[in-house]
Amino acid sequence: MKTILWATLTANGNYAQSSPENPPKKEALDDFATQAKTAGNFIVGRRTFERMLEDGGGGASPFADIDIVVVSRNGAEIPGVTVAGSPQEALNYLQQKGHQTALIGAGADIHNSFLGHGLVDEVIFNVAPVMEGKGLNLVIDKDNYQYKHVQLLDCKPLGSGVVQLRYALER
Ligand SMILES: NC(=O)c1ccc[n+]([C@@H]2O[C@H](COP(=O)([O-])OP(=O)(O)OC[C@H]3O[C@@H](n4cnc5c(N)ncnc54)[C@H](OP(=O)(O)O)[C@@H]3O)[C@@H](O)[C@H]2O)c1
Repeated sequence: MKTILWATLTANGNYAQSSPENPPKKEALDDFATQAKTAGNFIVGRRTFERMLEDGGGGASPFADIDIVVVSRNGAEIPGVTVAGSPQEALNYLQQKGHQTALIGAGADIHNSFLGHGLVDEVIFNVAPVMEGKGLNLVIDKDNYQYKHVQLLDCKPLGSGVVQLRYALER
């Protein structure tokens, strides 16, 4: 099963954070919904998932028929989704359900867990036209300097100044 990590970055390379004053661009959110529909699933950290529920507002969900896996160490059940205790457990669940691709949706902690364990085949970075101060970073090793060459697969504008970059990683 192929794993794709999807993230929005800022123009100065941070892992983008959002707030009511600085919401995500519609083009990026629409792209995430498209990627999730194509994969039929997404994996998300417990903190981001809770925020998605707060922001959901009770309208029709674009994720109605999608397998959502929330990664959490605390093991508490969450209605309507599957809870996995680790990144590998999330992948095992989707693999056993027959998915060909797993989409890793957010947030920083989860992305860094997947990257740190070498569990990512491809990354999709949507670079948004915003810069931040001190913020979050996506890294392949939280403790040591490391580098990994990646192969550019695609680069395209999504509109409203958002540029999508797609890279392949070798495992
Ligand atoms: N740029 C983007 O594309 C994007 C998209 C969405 C959100 N965001 C930003 O992301 C931030 C939220 O991300 P976050 O890093 O705070 O939280 P997160 O990654 O969404 O969730 C963190 C939680 O995931 C669980 N977890 C993490 N690693 C794990 C592991 N190895 N095994 C088991 N469980 C694990 C833990 O849950 P438990 O505590 O339950 O154990 C942890 O507290 C916000 O600032 C938001 O604005 C950015």
